[in-house]
Parts: sequence; structure tokens; C-alpha cells
Amino acid sequence: MGFFITFEGIEGCGKSTQLRLAAERLTAAGHGVVVTREPGGCPIADAIRAILLDAGNSAMVPMTELLLYGAARAQHVAEVVEPALTAGKVVLCDRFTDSTLAYQGYGRNLDRELIARLNTLAAGSIRPDLTIILDCPVEVGLARAMARISAASTAREERFEQESLLFHERIRDGFLSLAAAEPRRFVVLDGSRGIEETEVRVTEAIMSRLPTSPARR
Ligand code: TMP
Repeated sequence: MGFFITFEGIEGCGKSTQLRLAAERLTAAGHGVVVTREPGGCPIADAIRAILLDAGNSAMVPMTELLLYGAARAQHVAEVVEPALTAGKVVLCDRFTDSTLAYQGYGRNLDRELIARLNTLAAGSIRPDLTIILDCPVEVGLARAMARISAASTAREERFEQESLLFHERIRDGFLSLAAAEPRRFVVLDGSRGIEETEVRVTEAIMSRLPTSPARR
């Protein structure tokens, strides 16, 4: 089996930038790397992503939202994550099951036991070997996320950015609680630092846990 690394955090925490940099480093070190994200990562899950993040879908109830994240994950795991891990790759995934616990559990107040069961239903035995949380104040993250959305020429994926500060505070606290409960899997880093400084810490976290021989290309 390969090695499964997930990147988590609130909107605008810098995880996507750090994931890209980590992928470059790992590739340069000779590892076979697969970069992916949730919701999405394959055509069917990307179609579900468009429904989930469309700001026009403000009528979506929390249970529909939860089940759509689960549906997207089931497809993505079966089509992308599991085959890549079986092929011995290092898989870097932008968000995974912890986002569902943080957003739909801590954020939307859906039952966390139920979410944990749904996560297992969708992901089967696939669990991250390492989860990096980039933690930053909600104001910092949302300011970055809104700047990115205004600059984007593609579909406006802003349904979550439009939620209240309190909602995002609950999600941030949720991620930190998840990390505290499983300290061996999680590494929490300060996402409000500069890109280069954070990159050093992310690289350290990955390299100290990755099995020594490069994964197959
Ligand atoms: P992204 O903007 O980081 O690509 O994430 C998409 C949005 O989806 C983000 O607002 C977090 C949210 N999300 C959930 O609410 N639950 C989930 O399970 C996942 C994977 C993402």
C-alpha cells in the first residue's frame, strides 16, 4: 500500500497551496504522487461538487448536503484513492472525512456518530496515514478565500464562504478537537504564517512519517 496524506482546515487556510508544494517536493524526491481533492477528484464527484458549492442552492438542507458529500466520496475513493494506494502511490488529498465531521458535524450540528458511520460507508477501510491541519483565525482565512473568489473567472463556489463567522469558528474548533483526539495521525500547523515558512513545517511533518523508500512511480 501507498501512503495517504490529507490536508484540512477552514476556508483560506492555505492548504491547497501547501498541498501543491508538497506534491512538487515529493515528486522531486522520486515518489509516485497522486494529487486529488474532495468534494471532487473524478467526473461524477466533480458534478456533485458543482451542486454542493453552488451559491444558488441555498435551500439545501444539512442532511442532503451530508449525503452528497458521502456520495461524492464513495465514487472518489473507489475510482481514485483506493487504486492509487494499491499501486503504492503517495496520495495527497485536499480535504477528506475530517471535513465532513468539522463542517457537517461541528458546523451544521448533525450527529457526529452518524457522520462517522457515513464516512466509513463511503471510504471503507481507507483512512489517512497523516492529516495536516493548517490552522488560522477565521477572519484571516475568510479574507483570503473572498479575495480568491473575486479574482476567479470560473463558477463562484461560495456557498460556505457566505456562512456566518460563528459557523466558521465552530468548524475551526471542530478540526482542533479532532486533532486533539487523534494526536498520532494529525499535525496542526499555523496557517497564518508565510508560504515558505509553512512549507518547511509541512515538509518536515511529511518526511518524518513517510516510509523511507520512495513510493513507485
Ligand atoms: P474547498 O473550497 O477547500 O475545495 O472545499 C469545498 C467546500 O466544501 C468547503 O467549503 C468545505 C466543504 N466541505 C464540507 O462541508 N464537507 C466535506 O466533507 C468536504 C470534503 C468539504
